[in-house]
Amino acid sequence: MKDRRAESMEKIGKLITSRIGRGALLGLGSGSTMAALLPVMTAELKERKVRPRWVPTSLQIQLVAQGLDQEITAIDRPAVDLVVDGADQIDADLNLIKGGGGALFREKVIIGCAKRTVIVADERKLSEKLCSDGMRVPVEAHPFARVPVAEKLRLLGGEPKIRLGERGFPLYTENGNILFDVGFEPIENPPVLERELKSIAGVVESGVFTPSPVEVYVIQQDGGYRVLSKN
Ligand code: A5P
Repeated sequence: MKDRRAESMEKIGKLITSRIGRGALLGLGSGSTMAALLPVMTAELKERKVRPRWVPTSLQIQLVAQGLDQEITAIDRPAVDLVVDGADQIDADLNLIKGGGGALFREKVIIGCAKRTVIVADERKLSEKLCSDGMRVPVEAHPFARVPVAEKLRLLGGEPKIRLGERGFPLYTENGNILFDVGFEPIENPPVLERELKSIAGVVESGVFTPSPVEVYVIQQDGGYRVLSKN
């Protein structure tokens, strides 16, 4: 018997896929939610004989997609039709923290050029404000700028920690950069913080995302789902 989460993912995957047409260029977010959702979506696409092209946001999800015989491409148009992605935390205005897997740079680029953004996440990721419950904001920075970036993050009220791997070595992103996981008080104004973080010289991208329009598909524990949307 399927577990409740899988049941919910199946319904969500089918619904999202029903809106994908022929010739679509799709942004493919990273993480475990996407890795679980993609087989549902691709089975449905196969059934409908629709073969879109996917722009992966990390090698992690690219390998999953290639294992499912999907067509992978670079962004070769100014806009992608739809991005499907996960999130680490979602506030009441559907602002997001992303980048738990370190793929925030490509995810920010692809969401920035998306006609539609769909986020799929467990209900435990919903929160009144971002950075509640100890959630930190990932910030990708060039290694050369490590010290001044850390200081400027502190001046913004943050508490930066370099992300380390299991054996204690700093983790590098696919772009050769380091990651700070930055603690903040619950964020009152995510668009302002997003701009402030981006304006620090040496910061490549931050994990504060303020997409619009956006739809959030919430995976419920009872096997159902609900949709929250903005604009
Ligand atoms: C990858 O860097 C992230 O932005 C993911 O979308 C986010 O961390 C959610 O990941 P899970 O689906 O694994 O929780």
